[in-house]
Amino acid sequence: MRSKISIIGAGNVGASVAQCCLLKNLGTVVMLDAVENVAKGKALDMSHAAALHDQLFSVSGTSDYADTSGSEVVIITAGRARKPGMSRNDLLKINAAIVDDVTRKVVKHSPDAILIVITNPLDAMSQVAWKASGLDHRRVIGLSGLLDSSRLRYYIAEATGAGPHTVTGLTMGEHGDSMAVLTRLATVGGVPATKLLSAEKLAEIRYRTAHGGGEVVDLMGCSAYYAPGIAATAMAEAILSDSHTTYPCSVYMTGQYGVDGIYMCVPIRLGACGVEDIIELELTDNEKNQIAETARHIRGLLKELEE
Ligand code: LAC
Repeated sequence: MRSKISIIGAGNVGASVAQCCLLKNLGTVVMLDAVENVAKGKALDMSHAAALHDQLFSVSGTSDYADTSGSEVVIITAGRARKPGMSRNDLLKINAAIVDDVTRKVVKHSPDAILIVITNPLDAMSQVAWKASGLDHRRVIGLSGLLDSSRLRYYIAEATGAGPHTVTGLTMGEHGDSMAVLTRLATVGGVPATKLLSAEKLAEIRYRTAHGGGEVVDLMGCSAYYAPGIAATAMAEAILSDSHTTYPCSVYMTGQYGVDGIYMCVPIRLGACGVEDIIELELTDNEKNQIAETARHIRGLLKELEE
């Protein structure tokens, strides 16, 4: 079956997602941007590479939502990106208006799509997109933990000398400074990372993971896009292949971990219907407190949005 993936916003993140989807031959890719020529130009550039990597599906650029019609997956990247010194939360109101607007247009043309939200501040924007979409909350999912846990896995790999793919790790809570980085549960080839690294090193890794996006912004003056691109593509792949993969993602909470009524990152099973399940783990008291704190932070942002 031919799948259709539309990407809203053809900036750095949108283009990176598009390229990853093409490299993985996930389906036909449509990139939509208010600046049509940018979307068209990037699509043409990617098409020029098609012969060199066995690309099976086409990519196109547009500013017309009708061209996104009938998408199975729509990835929303539209919004302002972070500049140095800005937190994800500084973008709150500007991006809420953009996400609300684009989501309504997306759903009009793809009422059966599953939406993956990347725009920051991520958890609040996932909630805005869900509300604007009118979709079941299981069909609107934020990209957060897959990116954050990939950063965690990289830092543990770097510290231990292991291959990053042999490292497992989990982050939960906000896609922001208050996230819970659960190094207690991380493993290297099945061996607890706590056996391999000192408490000080793990504390440093937790800090760098939670601030990984900011570190990239400070270095290059704009938001990360390579890692977000492949992370969103992995989510799209799990949905399109109905793989029931366990990933940490930002989803609507209905009482799990004592949290209700907000989007927040937790481990889920992801498949063709979107969120199949939220997986509840036994946490320590300290971790439970962190979850409560990060949920409070997300609620604070949502309250600010309402003011
Ligand atoms: C980051 C952005 C995508 O974490 O939120 O780099």
